[in-house]
Amino acid sequence: MSFYITTPLYYVNDVPHIGHAYTTVAADVISRYKRLKGEDVHFLTGTDEHGQKVMRAAQKRGLSSQDHVDELVTRFQDLWVRLDITNDDFIRTTEDRHKAVVRDILQDFHDRGLLYKEGYAGWYSTSEERFWTEKDVLDGPDGTKLCPASKQPVEWVEEQNWFFKMSDYADQLRQWVADHPEWLKPETRRNELLGILKKDVGDLCISRPKTRLPWGIPIPFDEDYVTYVWFDALINYISAVGYLRDDATFETRWPANWQLLGKDILTTHTLYWGTMLFAAGLPPAQRLYAHGWWTVEGQKMSKSLGNVVDPHLLIDAYGSDSVRYVLMAEKSFGQDGDFSHKSTRLRYNSDLADKIGNLAHRALSMTAKWLDSKVPALDADTDDDKALAAEVAGYIDTFDVALEAMETADALEALVNIARAGNMYIDRQAPWALNKAGDTARLAGVMRRTLEISRICGTLLLPFCPQKSQDLLDRLGAQASLDGVGRLDVLTEGTTVRHGDPLFPRMQELPAIIAEALAKVGGDLKSLEGKAPAAAKKSKKKKKSKKKDPISFSDFGKLELKTGQVLSAEKHPDADRLLVLQVDVGEESPRQVVAGIASKYTPEEVVGLRVIVVANLEPATIRGVESQGMLLAAGAKAVLAMATTTEDVPVGTVVR
Ligand code: MSP
Repeated sequence: MSFYITTPLYYVNDVPHIGHAYTTVAADVISRYKRLKGEDVHFLTGTDEHGQKVMRAAQKRGLSSQDHVDELVTRFQDLWVRLDITNDDFIRTTEDRHKAVVRDILQDFHDRGLLYKEGYAGWYSTSEERFWTEKDVLDGPDGTKLCPASKQPVEWVEEQNWFFKMSDYADQLRQWVADHPEWLKPETRRNELLGILKKDVGDLCISRPKTRLPWGIPIPFDEDYVTYVWFDALINYISAVGYLRDDATFETRWPANWQLLGKDILTTHTLYWGTMLFAAGLPPAQRLYAHGWWTVEGQKMSKSLGNVVDPHLLIDAYGSDSVRYVLMAEKSFGQDGDFSHKSTRLRYNSDLADKIGNLAHRALSMTAKWLDSKVPALDADTDDDKALAAEVAGYIDTFDVALEAMETADALEALVNIARAGNMYIDRQAPWALNKAGDTARLAGVMRRTLEISRICGTLLLPFCPQKSQDLLDRLGAQASLDGVGRLDVLTEGTTVRHGDPLFPRMQELPAIIAEALAKVGGDLKSLEGKAPAAAKKSKKKKKSKKKDPISFSDFGKLELKTGQVLSAEKHPDADRLLVLQVDVGEESPRQVVAGIASKYTPEEVVGLRVIVVANLEPATIRGVESQGMLLAAGAKAVLAMATTTEDVPVGTVVR
């Protein structure tokens, strides 16, 4: 059975922005996942190229409309290449294969009496390509009227037009929505549609006179008219897959499995498109998802703000994989969400660098160090090994259910939990101790399971981050396959693994090109990273002047403070006041730290504690035991409390 998924056709005149990238990446992620499952995927995207806006923009540039769109379409096509989008087809509404089908449908509707011609008068908005009634429009300057949606001037237009008897199919649509509660996601949009369908839906004006708007598909039975852009554009979803041209192909594709759209184009994709399909004797797509919108740095996307999230800039700064990941992880699909550079960096560091990347790095580097870079043999499962396998299997199920439902953020949360489980397994099993003790069979078994979890992460991450995930699978000598993905015995024993640089190095600060772009619009933004508001700066100054013996920022910057977790602790063999701790600070092996905290804490009390470690202190030998750092604690002479973190941040997180 085929899996057919579509994105809206983007207005070719628009400069591609993260809203466009968002839907396309989402469709690509599910397409890649379905292909991994062995399904026959057909992923369609494209551009909407007719209409008055396009024609006027072309005229301004002194180009024919066709030359204009031929040039502009490459902006979308190039972006999709840079974002690793694997669409199977790209349809443009100016292509013959599309135009011919639109004309055939119009002719058929006309022949069957589904269209009629009538006089029409109203305020026409070129920016929205639609009519508004007198009560809709807003008053503009000098007696002008404005479009309520775009706030651009509208023109009074009186003309004869063709109408589609949409109201004839409204009941069928009402019934469809009632019978298919899963048809339209999310619930809020379904309720919105139910509200629309409660009222009289009226008929749909589907033509524009050529005298006013020549840039469209001519109506076959009345050549003085062209087709309304939405009637034209919606048909792409079936013209692209052989409707009226190639029945065999069409039957395998339609109804589409998923149609993705933004919440703003709900009416067109449900009421208009649904009734058009019913009129053609076709069912609607199996499922529709009207996703939420992005704001940028807390504000509605505008031209200037658009620049700081220009998808090309994001790819230059963060790389295609990270952009894809963050878009899919940062916002629940159905809800609105905010895109900010600060949260992009936090998300990258917490999920990709500290969890998935860290697990892979630890697994590969320890295998290189102690096991000659060879995939080792499994040993018999302990209870902890069984618990790990069960936990991971549970997360894989959650991942699958979520992704099948297009809930990309939930799927990624499950994936990050797999990496977290892998990291915690390493901490518990302490392979460094097994190595030290010469327990080679157990060391091999532990590292094998760790490598397998890395493979699982690489495989499930593949639809989101295709480049890095493939790199990870290559390093592990693994094939990309979902067959038995959760098993912990898939890798081939003896295969050489490649350790290499970390896949997702921590991003310490905002990339310079982003900082520059933000600085250009800085005045408009409240939440700018690195730019303290003036008031805050002042109060900092005051405080500073009160302090005695201030140290400079650069002196403070020399300190490397990191979060850590105490893995084990024992009494110092030669000093009552001291404990000897093994502390995980997110490095290949834990640090040994000698801490003067024994008067307050027993070794048992500190195991598992989250601590703050001074990580760049010169190693020192304290009463014969080497100490590779220091823990922060409150109290001058006697220790009163350990410094810790309020949140469960990953080990190795920088503390400032
Ligand atoms: N051409 C029509 C669609 C025709 S489909 C047969 C159109 N094009 S569009 O380019 O304006 O919008 C395309 C998509 O981008 C819509 O789904 C819209 O919701 C989405 N987005 C536009 N701005 C957005 C955000 N700020 N955030 C998320 N998506 C946004 O409408």
